[in-house]
Amino acid sequence: RIVYLDGQYLKEDEAKVSIFDRGFLFGDAVYEVTAVINGKLVDNEGHMIRLQRSCNELQIALPVPLAEITNIQKELIKKNALNEGGIYLQISRGSAGDRDFGYPADVKPTLVLFTQARELLNSPKATKGMKVITTEDIRWKRRDIKTVGLLAPCMAKQAAIEKQVDDAWLIEDGYITEGSSNNAYIVTQDGVLVTRPLSNDILHGITRKALLELAEKEAIKIEERLFTAEEAYQAAEAFVSSATTFVWPVVEIDGHTIGDGKPGNVAKKLREIYIELAT
Ligand code: PDD
Repeated sequence: RIVYLDGQYLKEDEAKVSIFDRGFLFGDAVYEVTAVINGKLVDNEGHMIRLQRSCNELQIALPVPLAEITNIQKELIKKNALNEGGIYLQISRGSAGDRDFGYPADVKPTLVLFTQARELLNSPKATKGMKVITTEDIRWKRRDIKTVGLLAPCMAKQAAIEKQVDDAWLIEDGYITEGSSNNAYIVTQDGVLVTRPLSNDILHGITRKALLELAEKEAIKIEERLFTAEEAYQAAEAFVSSATTFVWPVVEIDGHTIGDGKPGNVAKKLREIYIELAT
């Protein structure tokens, strides 16, 4: 695989970052993941806007303009002949050659990109649906910033793996916030699509935004409000969204079968029209 590091396209084992890089020492870095279908970036503009916002919140200067980052994404897709999968990009504050908590002055951010070949369209999770558990949301209070400080989601995902399910939904003060790396939705028995409103409690998903617009066009009733695990157990459907899953139905939560245990119609419909429009 060819990867990108600070202006250079390199073989992956030749790309090296300083041990003093603040992404490594403090998780002082932001990232984005964009899906690639037929060699084309999916919904990338939204990801670039969110990247800029994450950088602004942390006072990290963009190492190159957003338009140039997109050129690098495209070039890397070409160099790796990536047809389907994702492209990961990360900007860390960089290295000041030592370890100090305060933001160093005159530091050069580190920009890294790499591709990941994955089957996105024909994923078994999309057709069969996934099982999730719920677990306490132990993350920090700025989940709107897409940082690489992801140990809490890693722990949640690992807890799910150890329970032989696919993922974890996170709970704070009795309400679902989101999935370990996706936004969470239910569809009530009356056909209302429910998802948590935007705040600093969740990541403002780019796929979420697109799906809510599509749902509105489909005349699906939407309620952006809090919901509990108990409400989710009783729901007609449940699903998640993210750049790399698009929409994956959820057919079991904490051992409770959702609906008839098969992917729901709203999830299937939204997945279908999102993929059709985005690719
Ligand atoms: N995760 N919520 C969280 C906590 C996430 O990590 C993600 C994305 C989302 C969905 O956002 P979007 O639709 O913009 O991808 C919601 C990415 C894919 C990841 O960490 O790999």
